[in-house]
Amino acid sequence: MVDTDKLHQFVGKMLGDLGGAASIGLVHIGDALGLYKTLHQQGPMTVAELAEAAGVNQRYLREWLSHQAASGYLAYDPATQKFTLPPEQAMVFAIEDSPVYLVGAFEAMAAFLGNQELVKPAFKTGQGVAWGDQAGCMFCAVARFFRPGYHNNLVANWLPALDGVVAKLQSGAKVADIGCGHGWSTMFMARAFPNAEFVGYDFHPGSIEQAATHAREHGSPPNLRFEVGSAKDYPGRDFDLVTFFDCLHDMGDPAGAAAHVRRSLKPDGTWMVVEPIAGDRLEDNLNPVGRLYYAASTMVCVPTSLSQEVGAALGAQAGEAKLREVITAGGFASVRRAAETPFNMVLEARP
Ligand SMILES: C[S@@+](CC[C@H](N)C(=O)[O-])C[C@H]1O[C@@H](n2cnc3c(N)ncnc32)[C@H](O)[C@@H]1O
Repeated sequence: MVDTDKLHQFVGKMLGDLGGAASIGLVHIGDALGLYKTLHQQGPMTVAELAEAAGVNQRYLREWLSHQAASGYLAYDPATQKFTLPPEQAMVFAIEDSPVYLVGAFEAMAAFLGNQELVKPAFKTGQGVAWGDQAGCMFCAVARFFRPGYHNNLVANWLPALDGVVAKLQSGAKVADIGCGHGWSTMFMARAFPNAEFVGYDFHPGSIEQAATHAREHGSPPNLRFEVGSAKDYPGRDFDLVTFFDCLHDMGDPAGAAAHVRRSLKPDGTWMVVEPIAGDRLEDNLNPVGRLYYAASTMVCVPTSLSQEVGAALGAQAGEAKLREVITAGGFASVRRAAETPFNMVLEARP
């Protein structure tokens, strides 16, 4: 028997979900054409004023603004016919360094949709989809999604939560950032600790090229370099700190990577593993953050791992217990949760 009240509630939820899904392209367009930033910088505007300021067609813009107002992303004043980006919405759509800047998340959703035609056949074959083969610029979207979290937490909270690491970085430590992607994490650390030496490794040559380009555009700190290298064979020994940001679960052989990290560290070194926040059981992750991560995991993380040797496919919601198992299998004696945010957990592993 269908319960009519429950049905109405569920269809109401679906309307919200569909509205969010329909907004993906529009948020992307608003970001790419500078519409949010112009509204943020110049304050309330009519369609004509914003069209003039942003250099876009008024008819398209009127439809876009109407959608944004209907979504609650912009406020609309019928008396003046002006649209406003309220301060809270500006933190989400216009201020790139804000801890809740979510434009990168919308970009990631667009990239997941783009991956459909690659992932759908893989459901039948069980094969993987290599990171470098994924649709559109998955790498750009992922880098933009994680950047606000690293910008706001890495130097201020995560590194200080590790035992004795900041003191080593200040006096001149040797650091490797593995699976560094576009290298924001590596650059934030290199800028904060000019006496330490940083190298970012990733097995995807396109990402390393982008990381080097970003670093040049941001003044290229002299203590930073990027090189192509995989988690199981990056060169160098005697690192004081090795970091993995949101990438261990993407690897085909995370236990093999853990063993290589162990070999590359000094005996008193530290491995910082930043992973998506998750509980250990499915029922712990049936919430809005788990929902986003399971989607990412299905479309990106599991296919990436299955395309590599071993194909452990931990998934983006592996949880601390599973991660601990993999890390200790690599020869680490202790693992501790040092910090967490709504999106990430930070594990400290010591030999
Ligand atoms: C989700 S992205 C995270 C990138 C970056 N650390 C960040 O947080 O923005 C995962 C990264 O892991 C890299 N990766 C996956 N498997 C790898 C492996 N076996 N060795 C090195 N890098 C790997 C991918 O190329 C990709 O850049």
